[in-house]
Amino acid sequence: MNSILEIKQYAKENNVPIITDEGIAFLLEQIKQYKVKEVLEIGTAIAYSSSLMALAGVSVTTIERDLNMYNQALININDLGLNDKIKVIFKDALEAYSLVEDKKYDLIFIDAAKAQYEKFFNMYTPLLNEGGIVVCDNLDFHGLVKEKDLTSYSRNLRSMIKKIRLFRSFLENNENYTTKIYNIGDGMSVSIKKKFN
Ligand SMILES: C[S@@+](CC[C@H](N)C(=O)[O-])C[C@H]1O[C@@H](n2cnc3c(N)ncnc32)[C@H](O)[C@@H]1O
Repeated sequence: MNSILEIKQYAKENNVPIITDEGIAFLLEQIKQYKVKEVLEIGTAIAYSSSLMALAGVSVTTIERDLNMYNQALININDLGLNDKIKVIFKDALEAYSLVEDKKYDLIFIDAAKAQYEKFFNMYTPLLNEGGIVVCDNLDFHGLVKEKDLTSYSRNLRSMIKKIRLFRSFLENNENYTTKIYNIGDGMSVSIKKKFN
């Protein structure tokens, strides 16, 4: 696939969940506003969001645990000529810290298993540069997070929604970060580390 549009089309045809158009526009805006140079992404999929970030000029380290996704991501990155801008780590992000701790990051983008967001946040934020930000996607989960009655949904889905709600309160009550959650894409947060003197 030699263009971003082809990757997007492939994602649609193969049910690969990728960031929405509105979501990626928002993410790229944050990259500009916070003068981001180094990104750590949790959840590569087929390297759609990482390629768009790399095309905007940043370097991306991204973690993926699914072998098929990882292989397709490598093909796409190669086809787009982005090998020197994106490094993909094939590993569960809960076990990948030692593989990415060689650098500090200006942006950590969390877009993987929703039930693990708090663990990802706690594990990887020590690698955030001063003035760096954390962006999380899918905090509305297709509108279900705000839905009052979830009785008609499966137990697994209800449990995941509960975890997303808990993660939202974790962010909102985290005294070390100032967080805003936006009704953008599938619900995106931006957390900025507070400076203590
Ligand atoms: C929503 S997709 C990522 C989409 C991608 N960021 C984009 O917008 O193009 C989530 C990906 O995270 C991966 N994933 C889920 N949990 C993970 C974990 N614990 N470690 C690494 N990858 C994980 C899934 O295999 C899936 O490919």
